[in-house]
Amino acid sequence: MITGASRGIGLAIAQAFSQPDSEFDNIVLVARDGKRLDEAKQEVARIAGNKAVHTIVSDLGQPGFQNALFETVDALGLKLTSIINNAGFTAPCSYNDITEEDLDMTLQVNVKAPILIVRDARRRGHKLDYIVNISSTAGMNGRPNWTTYSASKAAILAASESMQEEFAPEGTEVLRISPGRCATDLRKTLAPDEDPTTIMQPSAVADGLRFMMSDQGKIIRHQNVVFR
Ligand SMILES: NC(=O)c1ccc[n+]([C@@H]2O[C@H](COP(=O)([O-])OP(=O)(O)OC[C@H]3O[C@@H](n4cnc5c(N)ncnc54)[C@H](OP(=O)(O)O)[C@@H]3O)[C@@H](O)[C@H]2O)c1
Repeated sequence: MITGASRGIGLAIAQAFSQPDSEFDNIVLVARDGKRLDEAKQEVARIAGNKAVHTIVSDLGQPGFQNALFETVDALGLKLTSIINNAGFTAPCSYNDITEEDLDMTLQVNVKAPILIVRDARRRGHKLDYIVNISSTAGMNGRPNWTTYSASKAAILAASESMQEEFAPEGTEVLRISPGRCATDLRKTLAPDEDPTTIMQPSAVADGLRFMMSDQGKIIRHQNVVFR
């Protein structure tokens, strides 16, 4: 299950995991916009061949969202084996213009939602092989006007380390990756004047993640991996 899978990095990850040699039989795409999600499903299904592609409309910004999300997972008869916490929100602004609403939304989508999705998946008996939390280089190095986003990305990095330590005895691997500048809509919000053809493409992040989840990727799996 990949959150934020209708476009950008999440869609690229869905496409990478749909390749014929991928271990996954079912791919679950989660986002708010049902129309874009349907388009994404068609794109992924074209690659997926005999894998099943499902969509779930869910707004991770709404407290309690995870109840309906997991009811739909149950209704589909799925047992999740991997969760990619990828959906992200940012509202860059100068420090004095930070609103509580934007701060709450940034923490809700980027920190609370991944933690609660994993909690409820575990409570509901999904035996997870992999949890992947998408942080950012912004969570490692601060930048002007990005305070709320940087804070949220640092928080999910720290949370990932705790998850890794706690879940390792059960065989659940917790991966954390920190992409740098990547050509997506979210990046446009952060850097509107940048030429997207000059920076990393979403498919590069997806390929890097697939490597981390391969046998050879074991050697780098248990650290924050930066993709640039
Ligand atoms: N692009 C970069 O330069 C960069 C760098 C470092 C880290 N990242 C991280 O990478 C992740 C993916 O970002 P991206 O750049 O691919 O962004 P993007 O192209 O803007 O895509 C964001 C995805 O998340 C979904 N989403 C946003 N808010 C949501 C919500 N409240 N509930 C459910 N789904 C939601 C969007 O679909 P809907 O709008 O339909 O919901 C969309 O599918 C984020 O965590 C981001 O912080 C990005």
